[in-house]
Amino acid sequence: MEVVPLPEHFDVVVIGGGPGGYAAALYGASAGLRIALIEKNKVGGTCLHVGCIPAKELLETATVYRHVAGAKEFGIEAGQPTVDFAVTQARKQKVIDQLFKGLSGLLKQRKITVYDGHGRLHAERRVTVDGGESGEVELTGDAVIIASGSLPRSIPGFDVDGEVVLTSDEVLSLEEVPSSVAVIGGGAIGCEFASMFSDLGSQVTILEALPKILPGCDSDAANVVSRSFKKRGIEIKTGVKVGGHQPSGKGGTTVDLGEGGTLDVDKVVVSVGRRPNTDDLGLDGTGVKLDDRGFVQVDEYCRTGEDSVWAVGDCIATPALAHVGFAEGIAVITDILGEDVVPVDYGKVPWAIYCHPEVAFAGHTEESAKEAGFEVVTSKHRYMGNGRALIIGDADGLVKVIAEKNAEGNGGRILGVHMAGPWVTEQLGQGYLAVNWEATVDEVAHFIQPHPSLAETFGETVLSLTGRSLHG
Ligand code: NAI
Repeated sequence: MEVVPLPEHFDVVVIGGGPGGYAAALYGASAGLRIALIEKNKVGGTCLHVGCIPAKELLETATVYRHVAGAKEFGIEAGQPTVDFAVTQARKQKVIDQLFKGLSGLLKQRKITVYDGHGRLHAERRVTVDGGESGEVELTGDAVIIASGSLPRSIPGFDVDGEVVLTSDEVLSLEEVPSSVAVIGGGAIGCEFASMFSDLGSQVTILEALPKILPGCDSDAANVVSRSFKKRGIEIKTGVKVGGHQPSGKGGTTVDLGEGGTLDVDKVVVSVGRRPNTDDLGLDGTGVKLDDRGFVQVDEYCRTGEDSVWAVGDCIATPALAHVGFAEGIAVITDILGEDVVPVDYGKVPWAIYCHPEVAFAGHTEESAKEAGFEVVTSKHRYMGNGRALIIGDADGLVKVIAEKNAEGNGGRILGVHMAGPWVTEQLGQGYLAVNWEATVDEVAHFIQPHPSLAETFGETVLSLTGRSLHG
């Protein structure tokens, strides 16, 4: 009689090795759970290989270029910089490789079994793996976490060919800087690429369907970015309905802007959002359900409709941010361990957009606070009055704090902190804590900011909501 081997059994089987999946695996292993992690490409996922890390690395190249080009203002003659994009790309890859090596080493050290292949979930928490170096494998888990991530989305008329029409996947490995680019979609990805290409010398046009770019951001912060972009020669066309494109015969293409005419460019970058990567996850005979956009349906604890099966990261309809995936991974492991879980408060997660000027925020925008029924007071302070910002030569931008109005008509509880300007992605921490600790203006106004520092603008903005101020 043929002996059929039993599937290998784990405490937790994780499908997908991006930030959501590997965070769950690492955190679970640190709590003593026996973990299997299935990944068909490379652990690290979109974030490490074709997302956050390479995008921010290329944006840093743009920053260095800008600094060298602007060095004359500081009395340093460096001439007009030129870019060797092959070197840029090699440096980007070096950063990725180093992080990949670190992550792979950590998984090994925590004794996490990594399977190379495509994972599918079946009834009774049975998971099959195939199509990769691990061959055909069957696993079972006391718990299963789906963390299959997302893919760039395109729109009709713009088939991604990797030559002329690109998504973030292809932009991040371009061999040279295009002379002109149309960026379709002025969200986080679109603004980051528009900023990078413009700094590196491309003529950039953003084509946004809505009336403004960065539609999810507070209007004052978004306005800082659009004004700066326009000053730097980035053209922003809003309310545009792109129809398609035709090769122009000069190696580029002509984009149909509907009533807005046409636009000739070398490359088209499509950044109109991402879609969940859930087309081929098995799921037959399980209670896991997808919604009409393909996201795995979960409750606030990331639990699916199947007992002991959770889903985290970009494959669920929560903000598509690596750090949200990390937080969900940790929350799910806590749930698996039977401990008290604090669900992720999605309205208060930190957002960080790395275009120049940067944007960072947490909590309500002025608009959303009013819509939620709060009576609010707001305060705005510009970096133009900040000594450190003038010293570094990067004083364009502001901090805006939104607080509940107290009985005296001043600021009470802090509801939202929005920043646009120099290094704000590194400065958001205090604002994030204030929002999440539900701190009041009076409490935070006591905090001392170092002088001179960019953080003083946050301190000043909060202080002025007490009804008194220093430089306000
Ligand atoms: P997004 O949803 O942030 O922005 C897409 C933009 O495209 C929106 O402004 C939308 O109005 C516009 N749009 C949609 N269809 C259009 C059309 N047919 N024509 C013109 N405009 C159109 O998506 P994005 O920027 O692609 O990013 C995808 C996900 O990745 C988002 O969830 C984003 O938050 C996340 N992400 C976050 C980053 C960050 O926080 N630094 C960086 C990169 C991505």
